Amino acid sequence: MAGRLEAFVEALPDPVLIIGRGQRIIAANKPACGLFPALREHKSLPLVIRSPDVLDATARVFEGGAATTTMLHERVPVERVFEVHAAPLKDDGVDFAVLTLRDLTAARRVEKMRVDFIANASHELRTPLASLLGFIETLQGAAKDDRLARERFLAIMRDQGQRMARLIDDLLSLSQIEQQQHLRPQSPVDLVEVVRHCADGLTPVAQENAISILIEAPDQLVVAGNRDELTRVAENLIENAIKYGASDTGEESHVDVVISLVRMGEGRDVARLSVRDHGAGIAAEHLPRLTERFYRVDAGKSRAKGGTGLGLALVKHIVARHRGLLRVSSRPGEGAEFTVELPLDV
Ligand SMILES: Nc1ncnc2c1ncn2[C@@H]1O[C@H](COP(=O)(O)OP(=O)(O)OP(=O)(O)O)[C@@H](O)[C@H]1O
Ligand SMILES: [Mg+2]
Repeated sequence: MAGRLEAFVEALPDPVLIIGRGQRIIAANKPACGLFPALREHKSLPLVIRSPDVLDATARVFEGGAATTTMLHERVPVERVFEVHAAPLKDDGVDFAVLTLRDLTAARRVEKMRVDFIANASHELRTPLASLLGFIETLQGAAKDDRLARERFLAIMRDQGQRMARLIDDLLSLSQIEQQQHLRPQSPVDLVEVVRHCADGLTPVAQENAISILIEAPDQLVVAGNRDELTRVAENLIENAIKYGASDTGEESHVDVVISLVRMGEGRDVARLSVRDHGAGIAAEHLPRLTERFYRVDAGKSRAKGGTGLGLALVKHIVARHRGLLRVSSRPGEGAEFTVELPLDV
């Protein structure tokens, strides 16, 4: 009988344990053993799952209770949350309890991201909106007849309005690109032309920051992609290198942009774009989180430079849609290098 139950639980994809009277473990499938290594040594449920809620739910099944559901939080080795379903099972007149575990960790994480995202987006919009409303009130009241103040306030209001428009623009592009994540864009795009075009557009900002953009590239390198999206990638990376690579003291510096063909063998050659600055760099703990929406190392500094914190999130999604790779390497004090690899147009 135990053998039959073992064969049965082994066929199920989620972690399942079958418990006999006295909290004895009769059978457990591979996913359950993976989850609770103690199963290899112990056959007593309290030694394997220490959660009082799960033990109570199991005991209740043997007291003739109906099936119940409870939660199990595992903290080691990583934080995980399971929904545990304890149900009665009668086999040849013998009572058992069947524990089925459903991993809710990923669903919880997605839910948290969704909530955080809405909170962040609202917060980012609320700040410029509050400032706009404040100025409107001032213009209707105290500064009603002050022509100079009006000019100055209207200029600030325009900036705040533009900031909100850019934020909404970025959010819309992000959701659009995410929706089409599975569709790979396939038009031939000359990466060199795109990058030179972006660098030209950013030259005035670079000059303001005492930065020169140095480009090293072949005459042409054609990748399979979408021109507008690749423009956003180049723009974001070069703009970041200028914004965060500039020295606070106004000392002259440069941003190195290198485009090259990397031979990976038969049909797997890629175009590599690397953007390197010589600024303050990024500490290791921030690196894995840079591409999260609204993640900024220094939110105040980024906002002051008109940043929404969505740039690298966009870059990551665009590169993924192009089946490419994005890498960041940096050390504090030694600048940062962002590298993108894209499949060639063949
Ligand atoms: N080259 C860099 N050097 C140092 N820090 C950087 C660099 N590039 C990005 N960062 C850090 O990563 C954060 C996220 O960058 P991201 O491009 O996503 O947003 P942003 O530049 O703040 O805003 P946006 O791109 O929307 O204008 C930045 O706020 C900055 O702290
Ligand atoms: Mg940016």
